[in-house]
Amino acid sequence: PGKDGVRRFELSMQAGRTQILAGKQTPTWGFNGTFLGPTLRAGRGDKVQMAVRNQLPEVSTVHWHGMRLPARMDGGPHQPIEPGTVWTPHWTIDQPAATSWYHPHPHGTTAQHVYRGLAGMFILDDDHDLDLPADYGVNDFPLILQDKKFAADGSFDGDPLKGTFGILGDHILVNGTYNPHLTVTTERVRFRVLNGSNARMYNLAFADKRRFHVIANDGGLLSTPVEVETFSLTPGERAEIIVAFAPGEQVVLRTTDNGVDIGKGDFDLLKLIAADDLKPAPDVPARLVPLAPISAPAGAKVRRFRLSGHDAINGKEMDMARIDEVVPAGAIEIWEIENNVYSHNFHIHEVAFQVLETGGSAPPAYATGYKDTVYVPSKSVVRLAVQFGGFTDPASPYMYHCHILRHEDSGMMGQFVIV
Ligand code: C2O
Ligand code: CU
Ligand code: CU
Repeated sequence: PGKDGVRRFELSMQAGRTQILAGKQTPTWGFNGTFLGPTLRAGRGDKVQMAVRNQLPEVSTVHWHGMRLPARMDGGPHQPIEPGTVWTPHWTIDQPAATSWYHPHPHGTTAQHVYRGLAGMFILDDDHDLDLPADYGVNDFPLILQDKKFAADGSFDGDPLKGTFGILGDHILVNGTYNPHLTVTTERVRFRVLNGSNARMYNLAFADKRRFHVIANDGGLLSTPVEVETFSLTPGERAEIIVAFAPGEQVVLRTTDNGVDIGKGDFDLLKLIAADDLKPAPDVPARLVPLAPISAPAGAKVRRFRLSGHDAINGKEMDMARIDEVVPAGAIEIWEIENNVYSHNFHIHEVAFQVLETGGSAPPAYATGYKDTVYVPSKSVVRLAVQFGGFTDPASPYMYHCHILRHEDSGMMGQFVIV
């Protein structure tokens, strides 16, 4: 932060070219560069002041996905940034440590803007005395997963608004790199994994089936680490994991076909090479943070959202002039998301929620923390206990939507205000 206690960030949205495949130049968009954006970082209590400059040839917005903030600062479709102008939202960070992210959100062109490369991670810190790997770029790495299709000339191929899901690419990039490898130098490494894809679901596991710990969901740390062999992320979801390495070994992080329409195909994502000499790392703590369950009071409001086709919620397409739901400040409500056809997921701005059940069963233990985005499998109902914040503004809506961007852009999105 500066002398006045304000942490200032400057982001500039720009078009350019990036070499992603050997010998090819891909036309891309990025923040402060030609592809993706810098990792932003702030801590609880920080005042953040953004300056977001649009140097693109078209209007866009920047949404702080996972951030608890006033609706006018949220960067949804109601905060357009015209080409050549600067948007200056500001707010105070007041939420637990988490891995969140930022990306454009202009209604109808989010899929295209994200696909071209506009996305970045936003790490939030909080005071706790846990001994977790936290040295960015040393034992704490972001992994932004995005699938692309390439045309012969190296440009991104495919129409993110066509077909059932838009883009399901066959080249998976990690932090914008195809076929990457990373040398690790510590016995344990933390990865902050973000599914920044338009539609693809990842079912992450290591080629040697080693077990590892999930320590955080979208909204922050779990109460205890959950040991798994695999976990899944749909677009917009994040998880933090801790993986142990032995000196000199190599292992590949993969995504495996789970038979689901958006989770098809086996792909190698990242080759990890452990140095011959690894710095010792503390054990994964047995307990993480006390996580107060989000529990709805008796008689809490229940709202139901039916996702249909690829363009409607409760039979209605998104209308920027219509407020769909009005929620009292600080409320805890039950939201039920019903899906009768192919896969969707569901993201709610501003909130933290916990998943109560998915298709009649409890969620997997690794997904029981605070979240803001959840997979809604085909032919199922997902029940959420949702904690709303206290920034009232009857004139500025927040969004809820399917985070498969083809669906979001086609109208599978609604608006709520907090009053
Ligand atoms: Cu990540 Cu409404 O978006
Ligand atoms: Cu969001
Ligand atoms: Cu959808």
